[in-house]
Amino acid sequence: MPLSVLFVCLGNICRSPMAEGAMKTVAQDCGMPLDIESAGTGAWHVGNPPDERATAAALANGVDISRQCAQQVDRMDFARFDYIVAMDRSVLEDLQTMRPDGSKARLSLLLDHVSGRGGEDIADPYYGGTEGFAVAWADISAGVTGLLETIEGR
Ligand code: 4NP
Repeated sequence: MPLSVLFVCLGNICRSPMAEGAMKTVAQDCGMPLDIESAGTGAWHVGNPPDERATAAALANGVDISRQCAQQVDRMDFARFDYIVAMDRSVLEDLQTMRPDGSKARLSLLLDHVSGRGGEDIADPYYGGTEGFAVAWADISAGVTGLLETIEGR
């Protein structure tokens, strides 16, 4: 069974879909088999594709996330995934609250995997302009590269 990673944000239409797409690309590029998904703490967008600004930011970097479909994080996910990676601190707090005792998933912030950026958020670009999505993509790219190194070094 490959190791598994779940990326989590609020709506699962902006940041965590970009992280899912970016991580699938870097894992494939280095030949590491990983089971990678994303989810949101909220249910508002369940069943929807990613925000078109997120899709455009990913595509500008050669990654197609258009076929993803939003889902809500579930308590069962803490038994299913080896790594659950939050995009910001409020999402991490929500995950810590819902985490069942003794669950196997290791919880972290994405930027905890980037040297010198531990504890930082991937800023939510949803209410801003397209430049926020470019910033989010750059931060997410650095994060998934660091996360891959974390997983490889375990
Ligand atoms: P995400 O961005 O958590 O990166 O997917 C958001 C998407 C939708 C909402 C908030 C943040 N919303 O309030 O609907």
